[in-house]
Amino acid sequence: MKINNVRLIDIPKIEDNRGNLSVVEKDLLPFSFKRIYYLYDVPSGAYRGGHAHIKQEELLIALSGSFTVKLQDKNGGKKQIILNKPNCGLLIPNLIWRELEDFSSGAVCLVVASDVYEEEDYIRSLKKFINHNI
Ligand code: TYD
Repeated sequence: MKINNVRLIDIPKIEDNRGNLSVVEKDLLPFSFKRIYYLYDVPSGAYRGGHAHIKQEELLIALSGSFTVKLQDKNGGKKQIILNKPNCGLLIPNLIWRELEDFSSGAVCLVVASDVYEEEDYIRSLKKFINHNI
């Protein structure tokens, strides 16, 4: 998978004087989702991620606050994206290395994943990721 396949998508936002509502429906994503998890109460200076998935695809949303996502493909292509809007999602295909850092106080990272949790789907060593052959 190439770094250019990582992309930001606009999540529909319904605004009225009671506040905003955003919705992720199945047709918005290139994959069907089986799991949602979220990172919160992340201490300042903490680092998350540090892995790639063999098959799983994900959408990341900063529901609150902000954080930085550093991405890398097997060929050394790199991207760095700051997520800070609840109506903007970052689509990360499989076989992309990701690291999350610089969480602001109160930041919440929602992850919509194409699969249930399976540790066998993780590559947690950057060296193994770069040498991984499909
Ligand atoms: P980890 O993948 O290291 O988190 P991150 O990539 O966000 O830094 O997961 C932390 C722990 O939580 C690890 O022991 C695996 C476990 N875990 C689950 O049990 N289910 C899940 O859906 C996820 C994402 C993690």
